[in-house]
Amino acid sequence: MKRVFSGVAPSGNLHIGNYLGAISQWLELQKHHNCVFSVADYHAMTIFQPAEKLREKILEIAMIYLAAGIDPKKSVIFIQSDVLEHAELTWILNTITKIPELELMTQFKDKARRFRNKVNVGLFDYPVLMAADILLYKADFVPVGEDQKQHLEFTRTIARRFNGLYGETFIVPEALIMKESAKIMGLDDPNKKMSKSAENPHNYLGLTDEPALIKEKIKRAVTDSGDGIIYDKEKKPGIFNLLTIYSLLSGKSIQKLEKEYKNKNYGEFKKDLADVVIGFLSPFQKKFEKLGKNKNHVRRILADGSKKARLIAQKNIKEIKNKVGLNY
Ligand code: TYM
Repeated sequence: MKRVFSGVAPSGNLHIGNYLGAISQWLELQKHHNCVFSVADYHAMTIFQPAEKLREKILEIAMIYLAAGIDPKKSVIFIQSDVLEHAELTWILNTITKIPELELMTQFKDKARRFRNKVNVGLFDYPVLMAADILLYKADFVPVGEDQKQHLEFTRTIARRFNGLYGETFIVPEALIMKESAKIMGLDDPNKKMSKSAENPHNYLGLTDEPALIKEKIKRAVTDSGDGIIYDKEKKPGIFNLLTIYSLLSGKSIQKLEKEYKNKNYGEFKKDLADVVIGFLSPFQKKFEKLGKNKNHVRRILADGSKKARLIAQKNIKEIKNKVGLNY
């Protein structure tokens, strides 16, 4: 079976974009692949949050994986910092990474601009840590949203470079990016992606948002001038985004939705969309709540996952250290 690796950084509020762009793919992939899903806590540290908050978020993300349907019997779920080899491989890969390569990364440039006084070396080095995550497990596929595409291209470059310098070691992984859900846009601005670090909470539909809040957020979502529920990215980016979410969550095709709402207005459409989102989130939120009452159960799953992840990581790091000459 081919191996899949992916992860989420435990920061901000996980939203419907994270679910549609990444986690929904994982649910399908775990049926026929050897999947490893990480809570990327070292990544989250690149933007400061107090220790208590980080601790809480790590467990929350693990609970979200489980509540969404990631099955620990089929997939490995683990916490990145539980497997020391991630940091070890990051260092090795740092030594074959060129500074201008990292300076090119749009996520770094964007975050460096937004969190100007918080730019740290970790934020700069983030793509190398991400490459280490993926290569450590010799993953074939990496299911992610569009915003991670550049990091995946960088990972492929580093894998090839290492193989060229030290001999065939890493699989050059392939990004899996879904066409329709690759980039869910912000409700407050359909020209910017939905983001868990957005300052405005009306930017995103949180996976743990309560029904009343979902209704309010969708009601206030920016739409386009004129009326008509039409799927047109250029002319109607707001409605385009809402139709995308509606279609993906309900399983109804865009064409069918356009027909259904032909003579209806934005208000009616938004009201129904809110019901669809609430209906979709309800079973997930129930499971999430239940897990929250039994955190030790979650901790046991994570301990087991870390054990399994470590077995793979330790075997591979040994080979990598041998290849570069870190044995004597
Ligand atoms: P993160 O935590 O920012 O996002 C988690 C996943 O959600 C996707 N995503 C979106 N998809 C569609 N529309 C959106 N608006 C949207 N926003 C986010 C992201 O592309 C991602 O797949 N560095 C990564 C976590 C990570 C990782 C890895 C991923 C660490 N190591 C190794 C893959 C492989 C991150 O911060 O994603």
